[in-house]
Amino acid sequence: MPKPVRADAPSAAQPESQPPHRDFLQITDFTRPELEQLFALAEQMRAGTYAKKPLAGKSLAMIFMKASTRTRVSFEVGTFQLGGHALFLSPRDVQLGRGEPIADTARVLSRYVDGVMIRTFAHQDAEVLARYASVPVINGLTDMVHPCQVLADVLTVKQHLGTYDGKVVAWIGDGNNMANSWINAANRFGFELRLACPEGYEPADHLLAEAKKHANVTVTRDPMAAAEGAHVVTTDVWASMGQEQEAKTRAKAFARFVVNGKLMKKADPKAIFLHCLPAHRGEEVAADVIDGPQSRVWDEAENRLHVQKAIMATLMG
Ligand code: CP
Ligand code: NVA
Repeated sequence: MPKPVRADAPSAAQPESQPPHRDFLQITDFTRPELEQLFALAEQMRAGTYAKKPLAGKSLAMIFMKASTRTRVSFEVGTFQLGGHALFLSPRDVQLGRGEPIADTARVLSRYVDGVMIRTFAHQDAEVLARYASVPVINGLTDMVHPCQVLADVLTVKQHLGTYDGKVVAWIGDGNNMANSWINAANRFGFELRLACPEGYEPADHLLAEAKKHANVTVTRDPMAAAEGAHVVTTDVWASMGQEQEAKTRAKAFARFVVNGKLMKKADPKAIFLHCLPAHRGEEVAADVIDGPQSRVWDEAENRLHVQKAIMATLMG
């Protein structure tokens, strides 16, 4: 695992005057109607009725400061399916990994490519990239949010439960980038979200405060109470990328925050289970849940492809 690098913008640097473009750094960058349009496009792509090649002759640079299976493959394949070409850039190979400023990287890449996807540590680094790039920037995960994943998750809810309106989503575990993105999704779509997190592992206050203006979003210490009657039960690893050294402490703190058969029985009988993957069976989720009849994790993973193609077609097409 490469170490996080600090590659801030030089303080005097100003962005060049930029042609108008939009970024997708978090779910709340888009309005609800815009997100619904993305879903409609993603549904066409899933159904195989979308034949256009909006990225013909275009390239996507993909910066990965952290490991990835789904994000890397779905963005690369998605770009190809839309007629474009994707470049995988890891810190081992590009000057960013040796400390070249993100602002400079943004300005240079913008001269070659038509969009940049970034997976990195500090969310601020993605913001600096977006500020200095003159092409759309898409967030493929930061320590704060994982917006493409949670859009795919909400699409999976729509696919399997018909709608997200009036549904109750229970998040069990860490108040991490996934939890924060579910909060942003509740903000935009208005469904009820209950987060069961141990003390000291709560989600971001500022996102919570904003979402509470638009939806019923609550934080509890009781996983069973969160799951009571929920239509969607979802969780994530106890230690995210970059937190490997905290794994032991976290395992103790999260011992009660497990999605097992007992917890699923508290949920609605037709509840679905989601997990962004990779999963640790026997830790945050029992094998019989993730591999059981209520699990929709493979459709969820597939939906990354459709949602991201819809995002790229909209921003870069
Ligand atoms: N869910 C997700 O983003 O997976 P990867 O880390 O494999 O990209
Ligand atoms: N919370 C996890 C998600 C991985 C897709 C992490 O950041 O490592």
